[in-house]
Amino acid sequence: MTENTQENGRLALVSGGTSGIGLASVRLLAEQGHRVFLGARDADRVAATVKELTAEGLDVDGTVLDVREDASVRAFVQAAVDRFGTVDVLVNNAGRSGGGVTADIPFELWADVIETNLTSVFRMTKEVLNAGGMRAKSRGRIINIASTAGKQGVVLGAPYSASKHGVVGFTKALGNELAPTGITVNAVCPGYVETPMAQRVRQGYADAYDTSEAAILEKFQAKIPLGRYSTPEEVAGLVGYLASDTAASLTSQALNVCGGLGNF
Ligand SMILES: NC(=O)c1ccc[n+]([C@@H]2O[C@H](COP(=O)([O-])OP(=O)(O)OC[C@H]3O[C@@H](n4cnc5c(N)ncnc54)[C@H](OP(=O)(O)O)[C@@H]3O)[C@@H](O)[C@H]2O)c1
Repeated sequence: MTENTQENGRLALVSGGTSGIGLASVRLLAEQGHRVFLGARDADRVAATVKELTAEGLDVDGTVLDVREDASVRAFVQAAVDRFGTVDVLVNNAGRSGGGVTADIPFELWADVIETNLTSVFRMTKEVLNAGGMRAKSRGRIINIASTAGKQGVVLGAPYSASKHGVVGFTKALGNELAPTGITVNAVCPGYVETPMAQRVRQGYADAYDTSEAAILEKFQAKIPLGRYSTPEEVAGLVGYLASDTAASLTSQALNVCGGLGNF
């Protein structure tokens, strides 16, 4: 475990902390000395993740969370406060892919992608600022996992791109609003990151283009200057930096972790 006195005892909340980028962020923040409270919809996976990380000696707990539901978000933040105290760091990571030929997309899919990826960020942030106690502090960190799709259009991904552009806009506006308070707000924009979601996305394109997932992987890798997907740990590294005291002057930014894919 990394020795780091500066973060000791600070509470970090991570939505979607049972898989991929969220899980890597939970682990790194805990290794930095944060107490971490994580949430996701699958209660068994939440319990298994908490058990695994606790066995590694990390100060982690969590409960079930659906970021699309007001009551669930309220209960999650209250459970975190009851367990560990007021919130110092919020990582809005929970998200879903979703798209298709835009003219054929059912409204329900559009609405669920926007709800899961964008409205959830407002909902979680507001709850953490108020019930989580961050608003009363002189220092806080809000880190939104957006995407390079929040800066450029992704073909067959209109709902996803729209939601992530929304997250970037929300981040910039709230970052400017909260800058005088010592609370920073930033977006991390991953490109292609090897996670279960990335596998589902590749399969979706393979179906849409009537080809194999391996062919899609090759096509995507060819677009990335680095020549490979990023790892969840590489994305978590930026999350960990943004949570630190050194990052105090870094706010209202949308920073890419993408192997050069996003040149903007
Ligand atoms: N992988 C990439 O290439 C990539 C690129 C750019 C951006 N991103 C973004 O990075 C974030 C994490 O993606 P990932 O690739 O790590 O995905 P992942 O491996 O599929 O993990 C997603 C996590 O979010 C949770 N989750 C999903 N819907 C939820 C909901 N409604 N309420 C609460 N938790 C929910 C999942 O658990 P449950 O299913 O149990 O709820 C899981 O813990 C997302 O916001 C994604 O858009 C990923």
